[in-house]
Amino acid sequence: MPENSLTVTDNRTGKVYSLPIEHGTIRAMDLRQIKTDPHDFGLLTYDPAFMNTCSCQSRITFIDGDAGILLYRGYPIEQLAEHSTFLETAYLLYRGSLPTREKLKMWVDGVTRHTILHENIRRFLGGFHYDAHPMGIFVATVSALSTFYQESKQIFDPEARRITFYRLVAKVPTIAAFAYRYSIGMPIAYPDNELSYTGNFLNMMFKGTEPRYRPDPVLERALEVLFILHADHEQNCSTSAMRVVGSAHTDPFTAIAAAAAALYGPLHGGANEAVLKMLNVIGSKDKIPEYIRRVKAGEVKLMGFGHRVYKNYDPRARIIKRTADEVFEVTGKNPLLDIALELERIALEDDYFVSRKLYPNVDFYSGIIYQAMGFPTEMFPVLFAMPRVAGWMSQWEEGLLDPEQKIARPRQIYLGAERRDYVPIEQREPALTGSMLP
Ligand code: SDX
Repeated sequence: MPENSLTVTDNRTGKVYSLPIEHGTIRAMDLRQIKTDPHDFGLLTYDPAFMNTCSCQSRITFIDGDAGILLYRGYPIEQLAEHSTFLETAYLLYRGSLPTREKLKMWVDGVTRHTILHENIRRFLGGFHYDAHPMGIFVATVSALSTFYQESKQIFDPEARRITFYRLVAKVPTIAAFAYRYSIGMPIAYPDNELSYTGNFLNMMFKGTEPRYRPDPVLERALEVLFILHADHEQNCSTSAMRVVGSAHTDPFTAIAAAAAALYGPLHGGANEAVLKMLNVIGSKDKIPEYIRRVKAGEVKLMGFGHRVYKNYDPRARIIKRTADEVFEVTGKNPLLDIALELERIALEDDYFVSRKLYPNVDFYSGIIYQAMGFPTEMFPVLFAMPRVAGWMSQWEEGLLDPEQKIARPRQIYLGAERRDYVPIEQREPALTGSMLP
């Protein structure tokens, strides 16, 4: 009996099966052989929300949730946050290694030359309602980019994939900034390609009437760190959406829109916005015990806490907390920080949270920094989606080129009605139970 194997006995038939174990998994398709008779379809797995299912093999990001470890292509997130830039990290995620000085310059130049948006995009931005949520604008506009760059459908052409990567990484800050400026009735500020990636984003967001915007270096660097931390996170909900939509060979602009739509949810990337709303609802430190009571009663969630994988402190939250101090040196302290720190202190001492291994995640402190930097709360999910484009594109390409992958099409357990014949309407009795509404 091979050592790396699982021996299972089907008690329905008494048959014994040996299932190979590889990388700590068994292949679900190896269960299909387990049948009660030759006409039986064979065993499947049932795993709602994929709690215990690997959907792919990947070499991009590694997370050890119990130890609170996060590696991008083997490099610890703490070291990348300290030494790298977002564009260098995007290269690392996409190409798999840190670039030489020459490669990095070519990469940065490649992205920088694509920061401008087609003027027609400005026109349809004007079609959104004045109070449109910027994430709704972001999802729609990223998808619209697929209509401007038809060659993005050539997904098996490496050159088409590379230029699409450049365009997406380069244009999402412009889309985000344009959406923001539109929402506050300000004229848009065009990209300044002399500035860094984050410096230019701050320019497009906050430039006033001055001839040239000069980003504060502390805020510019803080955004680099925040973008590095948000760049990828293995098979999270939005990355899974990217891979599933990409498996149908949809163009990457449209697949990114699907991923961004998943990230928009308050349980995922929308949590940073929900955290700020929660802190404002709490309002002051003395109201925290009442809010904690409501959390324990199941009335509300402690937004920014908990994680499917991390059952320890999210390493990104630790770095963000440190970055907050540097930002507040420039912007002045965000009063909500004291509420957040007290909320964390209380939660980490409370058995309800400790027993469920609920720790602050990446979204708990990020919004406090963004607000202090002048970003409106509704922009926070967009600030999450922007850097995550680098991870989504890297994961999409890895899935596309994986010879084991094909179009994603899960199975189901059917518990619905048995076969029955159509009933003419005159013979239908009113339903005796349930709502009388159609
Ligand atoms: C991100 O997957 C990724 O990698 C995501 C991400 C990335 O970089 O892509 O890290 C980004 O999405 C971070 C998560 C941001 N979301 C939030 O902060 C929203 C609040 N958190 C929860 O909704 C929740 O913790 C999730 C969605 C993050 C994780 O949910 P799980 O893994 O499905 O856990 P669960 O809902 O099964 O909870 C287990 C228990 C339950 O209690 P019991 O039923 O056992 O009594 O913990 C409780 C939950 O009620 N619980 C919470 C809670 N999170 C879990 N209770 C109160 N507040 C919370 N936040």
